[in-house]
Amino acid sequence: MSKDALIIFDTTLRDGEQSPGASMTREEKLRIAHLLEKLRVDVIEAGFPAASIGDFEAVRAVARAVKESRVCGLTRARTQDIDRAAEALKDAVAPRIHTFIATSPIHMQHKLRMTPDQVVENAVTAVRHARKYSDDVEFSAEDAGRSEIDFLCRVIEAAIDAGAGTINIPDTVGYAIPEAFGHTIATLRERIPNSDRAVFSVHCHNDLGLAVANSLAAVQNGARQVECTINALGERAGNASLEEIVMAVRTRQDIFPVETRIDTTQIVPCSRLVSNVTGFPVQPNKAIVGANAFAHESGIHQDGVLKHRDTYEIMRAEDVGWSANRMILGKHSGRNALRARLRELGVEFESAEQLDEVFARFKELADKKHEIFDEDLQALVSELAPEASDRYRLKSLRVCSETGTTPRAEVRLEADDRILSGAAEGGGPVDAAFQAVESIVQSRTDLLLYSVNNITSGTDAQGEVTVRLSRGGRIVNGQGADTDIVIASVKAYLNALNRLMVPLERAHPQHDGV
Ligand code: KIV
Ligand code: ZN
Repeated sequence: MSKDALIIFDTTLRDGEQSPGASMTREEKLRIAHLLEKLRVDVIEAGFPAASIGDFEAVRAVARAVKESRVCGLTRARTQDIDRAAEALKDAVAPRIHTFIATSPIHMQHKLRMTPDQVVENAVTAVRHARKYSDDVEFSAEDAGRSEIDFLCRVIEAAIDAGAGTINIPDTVGYAIPEAFGHTIATLRERIPNSDRAVFSVHCHNDLGLAVANSLAAVQNGARQVECTINALGERAGNASLEEIVMAVRTRQDIFPVETRIDTTQIVPCSRLVSNVTGFPVQPNKAIVGANAFAHESGIHQDGVLKHRDTYEIMRAEDVGWSANRMILGKHSGRNALRARLRELGVEFESAEQLDEVFARFKELADKKHEIFDEDLQALVSELAPEASDRYRLKSLRVCSETGTTPRAEVRLEADDRILSGAAEGGGPVDAAFQAVESIVQSRTDLLLYSVNNITSGTDAQGEVTVRLSRGGRIVNGQGADTDIVIASVKAYLNALNRLMVPLERAHPQHDGV
């Protein structure tokens, strides 16, 4: 029996970026977009172009670069937002404009301060305006999960009549429960007279840990697009995880009447890249992409798997990209092998000098570490792309840590073409190193999170450090990798400080009504 296509709409670059501290530069978005295209997602939501000039440029760059996936820009139901999105998307092979307005009583009354009639009118005007630019227009009823069903039917029917080809039902605050949410989708499709003229989509948040379950319940009730993110990144508790949705549908073909186009072997590389770029580590027991997702600890399980894989395995690690992508490079690998592998990981070089620089760092790392894995390369590339705006760079670090003495660190930083030195003692070597940096920088930030992960296994592995800093309500993440974890820590700290130095004037799509 032929199956329906399930459209995978990835919003890592838009909703994912709304996670505190996950904001991405244009180059970072481009790297992720290349890999999403390789993953064969149907739609890439690249950002909210009206948010700022930087967001506009990032969406435009993704629209120009991506050829195999649709590229989408989010807009509020405002003509200026739509004009801006259309401009950013104008060079895309397949552009989509996604416009939204809130439809729940609480949002209409307190956020928008609009009557239901005004909301319908705005939705219709926005969809019609967007249709002047593109045949592919999506309409979202924000907070649909808490909207009244009669009003939802009314606004959606009007949006379809105005020309929306995709109708998205977001559970914006993660309030829905699977059975009821599935029922809502079925009811909307049954009751709205023109529902057959649109694809129904869902966009679920994970506040109750039910985003994937709600999305799958919707698919069983006729939704044919799911909005999701890599590693479940997203506003607050995140969005539905792309990898979990895709693998659930693929693994349980006996249940789901749909299939996706996703090249599942690209899932793990995408997960690594997103974690690397955003500084959000993946928990080890995360389904599909966690380091332990395919590790069998108990002797009984190991024995079973050796005798017959299917005893304890419902998916194969290589099918989601765990081993197929573990090509190992070493100190004898040449420039071409490095370039070819990086290209497969979605990294392209704009100049021969950039490749030279990466190659030099690769050789340096290969001297310290015998086997270089994809994860090492991704960490290396992330570090190698210091932003032009980076204010502080690490020149040298010296740390003394000995039993019975107080650890002490001396650091030299380059800033504004000057070398600045600082020294401090601390509770441990990392604390001393951070205090030494602070003796120079005096950033007045709060350290919210400090974590270290092994990038690969073994004691020669690089440690990857994530640091989360906040100042004046703004939160940033920084990452650094090195075979020496104190150096990795200082790199991560400086990375976060550099991000904090860049002023961020960006409108949030959902905090500001129409
Ligand atoms: O969660 C939400 O409602 C959204 C919409 C803008 C689609 O992200
Ligand atoms: Zn959302």
